[in-house]
Amino acid sequence: MKIITVNTEGKTYDISIESGLIKRLPGILKKQYRDNKIALITDDNVFKLYGRDFCQLLQLEELSVVPVVFKAGEQSKNIHQLSQIYDTLADNSFTRSDVVIAFGGGVTGDMAGLAAATFLRGMGFIQIPTTLLAMVDSSIGGKVAVDLPQGKNLVGTFYQPDMVYTDPELLKTLSGEQFANGMAELIKHGIIRDINLFNDIIDSNTEFNYEALSDKLDRYIYESCEIKRKIVEQDEFDNGIRQLLNFGHTIGHAIEKIQDYKGMSHGEAISIGMVIITRLTEKMGLTQRGEAQRLEAALKKLELPTELPDLNVSELINAISLDKKNRSGIITIAYIEQIGVGKLKQLVLDQMEEELYGLIKYNI
Ligand code: GLY
Repeated sequence: MKIITVNTEGKTYDISIESGLIKRLPGILKKQYRDNKIALITDDNVFKLYGRDFCQLLQLEELSVVPVVFKAGEQSKNIHQLSQIYDTLADNSFTRSDVVIAFGGGVTGDMAGLAAATFLRGMGFIQIPTTLLAMVDSSIGGKVAVDLPQGKNLVGTFYQPDMVYTDPELLKTLSGEQFANGMAELIKHGIIRDINLFNDIIDSNTEFNYEALSDKLDRYIYESCEIKRKIVEQDEFDNGIRQLLNFGHTIGHAIEKIQDYKGMSHGEAISIGMVIITRLTEKMGLTQRGEAQRLEAALKKLELPTELPDLNVSELINAISLDKKNRSGIITIAYIEQIGVGKLKQLVLDQMEEELYGLIKYNI
């Protein structure tokens, strides 16, 4: 088993990574939660695939488990569903020493984490991520939230988990699209901080699915989580260097927003975002020549898109300027000097818009 220890202001916790770990988890959890209640929060897809059996195994260990199952999808990550979780916790007399387990992908982790952070002003919280994206990104670092009709993640806080249990074997049931979605975030960590991870993934593999990568996944996930750990430890509350993790996200979020979150997946949108921002910073002289092309070739190999879909450029630029990271006409962008070397830069939004418009509309 590989273990990463994350040290944050309020909490120190371990991320345990091991293929097949899920089978041993009931025994591990029994040691700590024998006298407590567990709320197992999961969506209906994960419940059918793994949750029902996992619940039974916990019960066989005589643990007291209350499952909370919601309809899979971003549409469920809302105040109404959060309130139903609170109802279940209150109706079953959960206390502060009881624990919420988020068993699923990013939607589950974000919403279950917000429930754990706020019910009784904070209770135990464990992440068991079941998607690649959640394993390398959303289960680590404590960002928890739900969406409002006005936008994604508008109600949330920082609440670090007490433990993260990562079993790469759970990825065997992911669709190709979900797998690629997670690979986009995994390789992003290499692109901003670790050329060796980037080269290893791209140069030593020809196929990028669970079967082809299963022998290496524990290591790739570990190395990717290590990069995120170092960044989160430096800037838990996202005021500085943590914004590096948003590489590709300024444009990616704008694409997702224009498509009303029903078009491309997050991974696809940030893949395009990483390429476009790198073309832009290359044009501005901030990035070494040729890196955008190198990045594009790598992402294509991962079967991720690299060109903007057919959308209105002015609408895209408008969505970027409304992004929450835009502060009074100045936007902080994450970019790379070269692959493996990520940086932050403040740009005047008007100037960035002009450059981007020229690049996208006229390829200049
Ligand atoms: N997913 C970006 C962050 O955790 O800051």
